[in-house]
Amino acid sequence: KKERTLAMIKPDAVTKVGDIIQMIYDAGLIVTKAKMTKLSWKQAGDFYMEHQSKSFFNNLVQFVTSGPVVVMELMGDEAVSVWRKVLGPTDSGAARKDAPASLRARFGTDGTKNAGHGSDSLASAARELELFFPSTTGHGPSNTA
Ligand code: CMP
Repeated sequence: KKERTLAMIKPDAVTKVGDIIQMIYDAGLIVTKAKMTKLSWKQAGDFYMEHQSKSFFNNLVQFVTSGPVVVMELMGDEAVSVWRKVLGPTDSGAARKDAPASLRARFGTDGTKNAGHGSDSLASAARELELFFPSTTGHGPSNTA
């Protein structure tokens, strides 16, 4: 089933964007939208709202706002799960043991500095894509002029 997902290259891996886009294409996905941006604390907190009560939340937001990120819309068959497979396990140390060819094994450091993010479901993908690439064909006052 053809899907869309949100990929984020985190600040520790933006210099590896070329290698990462190659991994995306090698996995059979294509990049349909992309931009480099620097997240504010509020944007990062909204993006990670499901983690707001977690012990690592502040570290996570601190890290992801520490420099520019590259956000992309990826498209392809089973894009949500395929992209998460490319990323590998959340913790880059675990990734080096269990999935040494994965993006996090190659470019990440630990559980927080882990090089990339992928939406964990179709619902998350829809929400996260809307945060970074707001639809211009939807409803709302900005489209009624
Ligand atoms: P990401 O895929 O962006 O989604 C949530 C992020 O929270 C995750 O990658 C990690 O960067 C971070 N995270 C998840 N679990 C932990 C943890 N136990 N300690 C620190 N950071 C974590």
